[in-house]
Amino acid sequence: MLFKQQAWLRQKLLVLGSLAVGSLLYLVARVGSLDRLQPICPIEGRFGARGQAEFPLRALQFKRGLLHEFRKGNSSKEQVRLHDLVQQLPKAIIIGVRKGGTRALLEMLNLHPAVVKASQEIHFFDNDENYAKGIEWYRKKMPFSYPQQITIEKSPAYFITEEVPERIYKMNSSIKLLIIVREPTTRAISDYTQVLEGKERKNKTYYKFEKLAIDPNTCEVNTKYKAVRTSIYTKHLERWLKYFPIEQFHIVDGDRLIMEPLPELQLVEKFLNLPPRISQYNLYFNATRGFYCLRFNIIFNKCLAGSKGRIHPEVDPSVITKLRKFFHPFNQKFYQITGRTLNWP
Ligand code: A3P
Repeated sequence: MLFKQQAWLRQKLLVLGSLAVGSLLYLVARVGSLDRLQPICPIEGRFGARGQAEFPLRALQFKRGLLHEFRKGNSSKEQVRLHDLVQQLPKAIIIGVRKGGTRALLEMLNLHPAVVKASQEIHFFDNDENYAKGIEWYRKKMPFSYPQQITIEKSPAYFITEEVPERIYKMNSSIKLLIIVREPTTRAISDYTQVLEGKERKNKTYYKFEKLAIDPNTCEVNTKYKAVRTSIYTKHLERWLKYFPIEQFHIVDGDRLIMEPLPELQLVEKFLNLPPRISQYNLYFNATRGFYCLRFNIIFNKCLAGSKGRIHPEVDPSVITKLRKFFHPFNQKFYQITGRTLNWP
């Protein structure tokens, strides 16, 4: 009887063991094949000469694993040197616009094996204290990457801060500048919603959007309200154009990035002279979130934090109409300067 039970147990263990080994082999095979689908990535053109057209490691795997360790500082100098890793100044910056979808754009571009993102907003050029620390301080804030990869950072405050264009120009006059915009009234409401949430968290009361956006004395749009001013994109862009030619900017349609991210990302790949590597596989719609999320490989995927995609408060339709009318001529000018017409009312 005992012998029979032991034999039965051994048989069960054998079946379970084979199942575990089988699953493991399957996973290894799938991840391997995915890496082959997302191969090493040659970067052509303006981002510098590339003699060797290949990365020494499978880039995506590297970005998820080793690079993470390097970033966290869990690596010796020797390891960094052996892997030929460097901290590079950004070749492209997402300069704004706040609430335009800057985080989504950065995270989505980071799907590209040749792109390495600076995870935090560094606020080097808009913060005098940081700027005074010098360019080496800024470089040291950058993630480790292979020399062939490009680093991208995003700090949306750059777009609206007076001193920033000149400072960036001094660092690199041929840098590429990405601006992601949304329909200006929606962006202003999104901006308000973020501030409102902050106030509520601190148990503070706050004005209604209508009260801030419309001057109660004149009943006109309140151009002193920051959320309104930030949405006058053309005014800010004109300051930048004193330093950089329009060819160095690329406008991303933030409303389209929400609904249909791939074509927008493909335009950015082109602008950055990167080979097309981001595919529909990398982006999947998450019905619960109501947004596209990111798929790096069969194992790793992620959605943006809950602070992205807030529910906006309802705004009086007459205020929306007034704001849209106010932004209209500025939008026309923006289309004219950038050569990109967006379907804003
Ligand atoms: P809302 O919170 O108003 O919906 P930023 O990163 O510049 O702060 O922009 C935040 C906005 O990014 C969000 O504004 C959201 O609409 C937009 N967004 C675009 N793509 C997104 C995505 N895939 N997931 C979450 N938010 C996304």
